[in-house]
Amino acid sequence: MVKNKNNQAIWNTRIKDKSSGLYQKIGSSINVDKKLYKEDIAGSIAHVEMLFKQKILTFKVKNKIIYGLNKIEKEIFKKKFHFSDKNEDIHMNIERRLFQIIGEDAGYVHTARSRNDQIITDLKIWIKSSSKKIDRILNDVIKNLIRLAEKNIYTIMPGFTHLKNAQATSFAHYLLAYVEMFKRDQRRFKNNFDSLNENPLGVGALTGTSFNIDRDYTSKKLGFKKSTSNSIDTVSDRDFVLDFLYSISLCSLHISRIAEELIIWNSDAFNLINLSDKIVTGSSIMPQKKNPDPLEFLRGKSGTTFGNLFSMLTILKGLPLSYFKDLQDDKEIVFKSNDTLIDSLKIFNEILKNMKPNKKRMLELADYGYITATDLADYLVKNHSLSFRKAYQKTSLIVNLAEKKGKKLSDLSLSDLKKIEPQLTKDVFKVFDLKNSVNSKKSYGGTSFDNVKKMIIKYKKND
Ligand code: ARG
Repeated sequence: MVKNKNNQAIWNTRIKDKSSGLYQKIGSSINVDKKLYKEDIAGSIAHVEMLFKQKILTFKVKNKIIYGLNKIEKEIFKKKFHFSDKNEDIHMNIERRLFQIIGEDAGYVHTARSRNDQIITDLKIWIKSSSKKIDRILNDVIKNLIRLAEKNIYTIMPGFTHLKNAQATSFAHYLLAYVEMFKRDQRRFKNNFDSLNENPLGVGALTGTSFNIDRDYTSKKLGFKKSTSNSIDTVSDRDFVLDFLYSISLCSLHISRIAEELIIWNSDAFNLINLSDKIVTGSSIMPQKKNPDPLEFLRGKSGTTFGNLFSMLTILKGLPLSYFKDLQDDKEIVFKSNDTLIDSLKIFNEILKNMKPNKKRMLELADYGYITATDLADYLVKNHSLSFRKAYQKTSLIVNLAEKKGKKLSDLSLSDLKKIEPQLTKDVFKVFDLKNSVNSKKSYGGTSFDNVKKMIIKYKKND
């Protein structure tokens, strides 16, 4: 192996003084990017196979390198590999070990490539596979939401705007709103594949290479669809990292919204849902408490994922082309956001399996706050030919009257109602029935029981 007098890093042949030990320790990324060892080895194997095909490497050297790389992969897998921050990152750690295993022929592996194209190749492959994992966990979340929805098609609750009772809805319809969000999340992760499927390997340090390489060959070997088109853009580009971090952020935002709602509904004031003991925690001083900690954990974690997205945006803002050390931090950010989201989704799945609506209380609360007022206005339009605005005004007067008398709309007498709209008959009372109210919302996407049932069937068919 090529050694210099200070036995320093492979790239250190021109650097005479011993580099700062402090920087070596702090600036090294091995503790983070060792996670990419499989991707890195796969990339190197595809690379040397291509170099052999292109007659840049001999058969013997190619095989030696592949033998060494496979051995290294096993060593790392079995935790028998010694990672060292002296060797900075995963690429150099592997290359260093390759020298130890196969000797000087290891020096051929880095022909026609740079760590700059190596690292993004590794990271793109890793993000692709993790996106698929997230997609599978999101499938579980969607299934759990649908399962809960199926049991609650006829569970009536107040729908809120401004957190005030607005209109009655099926609890299932509410849950399916989140199915839509998580399906959009799945689509968002899938959409990222267009750029993730562009192969960076072969752009070298920044301008390409004078070797006659075949980038389409490595693309195919590594599961990319095509090669990137501009070498300078390729080594500078971290848009694919931002896409991933944004997709994670939005998914965790959706989780935080439902977490917040469930926290509110679990509060003693609302009491709309019950959480089983599996997903609550106690207080160290108040013996009576059962706190929704896991939900609060989920709500809070969006702070981490947004922060990571913002870190990466800030790292990239104003960064000239092409590669700079600044970019090295992308891995830590990606891994942290990824792990945070995966943990959150798993916990969310547990919560969905361990919560129940308090149906009685949901109905009770839905019967509060003149929630069928819009139904009454609609009734006046449909049955007594009033314009909607006129019907709205008359309904307001009826609500005022009920409020003054301290009664629900359904408890007003027909003569009370006739004082405000003389055309009314006792037929009007059906609009105050909450079930009728929910079931009347038959417009596409509305909360009627039939719509909800149809949507559940559609989701189950995976439409
Ligand atoms: N460890 C580096 C990173 O993660 C790999 C690329 C290093 N390239 C360089 N020219 N220092 O960004």
